Amino acid sequence: MPDSSPNPTQTSQTDSLLTRHRAVMPNWVGLYYDEPIEIVSGKGNRVVDASGKSYLDFFAGILTNMIGYDIAEVREAVERQLATGVVHTSTVYLLRGQVELAEKIARLSGIPDAKVFFTNSGTEANETALLLATYARGSDQVLAMRQSYHGRSFGAVAVTSNRSWKNNSLSPLNVHFLHGADKHLAQFRGMSDADYIAACVDDLRHVLATAVSKDVAALIAEPIQGVGGFTMAPDGLFAAYKEVLDEEGILLISDEVQTGWGRTGSAFFGIHNHGVTPDMMTFAKGLGNGFAVGGVVARGDLMDGPHAAGVATFGGNPISMAAANATLDYVLDHDLQANAARTGEIIIGGLREAATRLPVVGDVRGKGLMFAVELVDPAGGAPAPALAVRFMEETKRLGLLVGKGGLYGNALRMAPPLTLTEDEAREGLGILVTALETINDEAR
Ligand SMILES: Cc1ncc(COP(=O)(O)O)c(C=O)c1O
Repeated sequence: MPDSSPNPTQTSQTDSLLTRHRAVMPNWVGLYYDEPIEIVSGKGNRVVDASGKSYLDFFAGILTNMIGYDIAEVREAVERQLATGVVHTSTVYLLRGQVELAEKIARLSGIPDAKVFFTNSGTEANETALLLATYARGSDQVLAMRQSYHGRSFGAVAVTSNRSWKNNSLSPLNVHFLHGADKHLAQFRGMSDADYIAACVDDLRHVLATAVSKDVAALIAEPIQGVGGFTMAPDGLFAAYKEVLDEEGILLISDEVQTGWGRTGSAFFGIHNHGVTPDMMTFAKGLGNGFAVGGVVARGDLMDGPHAAGVATFGGNPISMAAANATLDYVLDHDLQANAARTGEIIIGGLREAATRLPVVGDVRGKGLMFAVELVDPAGGAPAPALAVRFMEETKRLGLLVGKGGLYGNALRMAPPLTLTEDEAREGLGILVTALETINDEAR
């Protein structure tokens, strides 16, 4: 792929697209970069923008292009389905692709007697899980984690705990938020993992003793918070929570929208890093490698519980099922979980090493191909969102796409396709370290 300098004609086309975007798209749909880019093609783990500039992609369409671009197995599976002339039939007819994919996901989940319902998005998957849990428990009370993000519908926003992503407080649920996701908060600083887990379990018990009435339906949690800035609770936290939840029959829902399919390297689903099997998992993003698919995998009794009929018109349609089956098969056939562990270690290790000499780096954390760098004011250690914005521009200039997030907007989030090669890992690491050095020099 050419790494040419921007072509002036294409640049002015992008300017005019930006003007048109601003005229008709909502202001709250954010664009990255001072000069936003339009991605026009992709191959492997690289994309090209409208000016012809090539980038190594460490954000993968927000963890969605999970095995990279233009993957023959996925393209051909979709083309085969298109060639049948059937793009949609509906769930009132048998759908082979759904059954095949559900069988694989049920098996991989480790959930006993698991059943699967397919949706179009992560938001819709979480709505479904919350519906199943509140129905099964006959309660509208739900626990969620501080700093979480679960989507943009009323139920999903209700369990979201990040003011920047919460437009209102209207809620179909009665929600209480737990500590536990972010060990970096001042009140936990310096604690060992074991002490931290004990403090969080105490907090759970305290919430159950003080904030709720009678039965609680479920705890919903991301094993690693995505929008929250890849905050990483110590492994074992959710197993410790589950012991308490089990005392009252409270269900555990793991939101695997970002952490599923081997991304964390050490487990196929993020929650399994904690040594616990939840009652339900929700998924979306990477499963279709860009095609819209989400869903819930849950204990069969929970899935079968509701008495009313249900349908998601487009959920699990033949095209998305063809893409998702091909993507999941690719992940398993190529053992991309092991690849995530291997390539992630190169990058995370390299970043940790660089951090020792760069005061602007407040934290490096990660598991597999899900890692983040927090930028802080080198003087006082305060979160430095402006430096994160600068870093984004610098990595863009150097040909690397990364993401941004965290409660304070200072966490650089990276999640390359699981197909990343070791050479690409080293190349990306080199760019990240160069950009960090530049930002560190500027911040002094
Ligand atoms: C953890 C998590 N859950 C749910 C969602 C919502 O998914 P979607 O945007 O597909 O509705 C997201 C999206 O970023 C997410 O990161």
